[in-house]
Amino acid sequence: MVRPIYHLHPEQYWMNDPNGPVFIDGELHMFYQHNPKEAIWGNMTWGHAVSRDLVHWRHMPNALHPDMPYDKDGVFSGCCVMHDGLPHILYTGVQPEVLCLAVGDAKGTAFEKHPDNPILRMPSEDCAGWRDPFVWKQQDGYRMLIGSGKKDADGYVDIYKSQDLVHWEHLGQMASYPEEAAGFMWECPNFFMDKDGDAALMISSIPHGHVYAMRGRYAGDRMQVSRPYRYDLGDSFYAPNIVCHADGRVLQYGWMRECGDPQLRAQQGWQGDLTLPRELRLVPGGIQVRPAQEVNALRGECLLDRRNFTLHSGENALKGIRGQHLEIRIQFEPGSNELLLEMLRGAASACARLSYRGADDSVWLDPTSLSGGEERLVGGVVDGYGQAELRVFLDGTAIEAFINGRETLTTRAYPTEGCDGLRLYSEGGVRVSRLQVYAMQSAYAEE
Ligand code: FRU
Repeated sequence: MVRPIYHLHPEQYWMNDPNGPVFIDGELHMFYQHNPKEAIWGNMTWGHAVSRDLVHWRHMPNALHPDMPYDKDGVFSGCCVMHDGLPHILYTGVQPEVLCLAVGDAKGTAFEKHPDNPILRMPSEDCAGWRDPFVWKQQDGYRMLIGSGKKDADGYVDIYKSQDLVHWEHLGQMASYPEEAAGFMWECPNFFMDKDGDAALMISSIPHGHVYAMRGRYAGDRMQVSRPYRYDLGDSFYAPNIVCHADGRVLQYGWMRECGDPQLRAQQGWQGDLTLPRELRLVPGGIQVRPAQEVNALRGECLLDRRNFTLHSGENALKGIRGQHLEIRIQFEPGSNELLLEMLRGAASACARLSYRGADDSVWLDPTSLSGGEERLVGGVVDGYGQAELRVFLDGTAIEAFINGRETLTTRAYPTEGCDGLRLYSEGGVRVSRLQVYAMQSAYAEE
């Protein structure tokens, strides 16, 4: 199987959630849920990698191990904030779930667990879970969200207040929503707002297994949330985490999980990647998502750059171009017709087909050859503007599509060896204003 080359993953074995992204001396430190012993979930440890530019990575020694009585069953997800010049990790120790603190040296290379751990326990025993702290600083001190919920009831996030990150006061629930809309257990809460309190909350839902976004106003430690909507139209996006750049941008990385049978995927010797960095913006009623501009630094050779042509039915605008690690960018006027992009083509068929249907502005991806040809279609209706844009990042089994500079679809396809053909065609004719293809380069200096 072809391993991604320009997405972040551990050197070997298993990865899930991104944890505690934090800037230290201008470099981004990314931690993540990691099994250092096998390519399957377990032995939860915090892996660690560092980037100068958000997209090129160097691996660091693992940051936290499950080696204390209060976290021996796993060092689960959490966050990292700078406090008194030192990185402070707040994480979930599994004993079962308790809140723990670990403080790093000024460079973020080594972390020590706090002697008072666990520093906080769940407020009531009957919740379905209580984990994944997310901390931010506001004028009167720190706030922390913890994802929670009750079986057969509504998912919610608890909110806490602290001055020193060690002692926390429970302020109740910041937000919740009826179970039928967003599940009974909210994992990995993430939150950001503008200076007027216009805010966004994202959670990863049990049992739905995907991410929901909610908009609303935040004031007095409460957020009145709008109806949760599904964030990312694919089936390989979960447990994202955000970090604020010094220039004010809100950046997000998500876990690109594998699809299909985990035991089968374990035979690859690895599982999981992080997405490329995404820049998020609050827009009326939603959240705009685009690839961060730094992603362009991964581009290698430009394989095609063509402007202003009509792609007639039956033509293949990507004839002669091949590759499994590419960026394909298409700006076009769909009208009421359909534009189709086949990737990972072999002699007989394609492994992944993305289609943009102009009639209803919907985008669908059909990664067919998942474990022996099982059909699986992901996608949905997107915001259409007459002018459409698809930016598709293909990286071996990982596919991230950014649609109209606004939404995303993240999925996986599992090509057999040598399937690297491409086909871009239309049903009914589509006017293309620009078509670009770039070979993408490794995110790791040593490769
Ligand atoms: C989300 C999650 C978190 C938990 C972690 C454990 O994928 O279930 O809620 O902290 O993974 O690995």
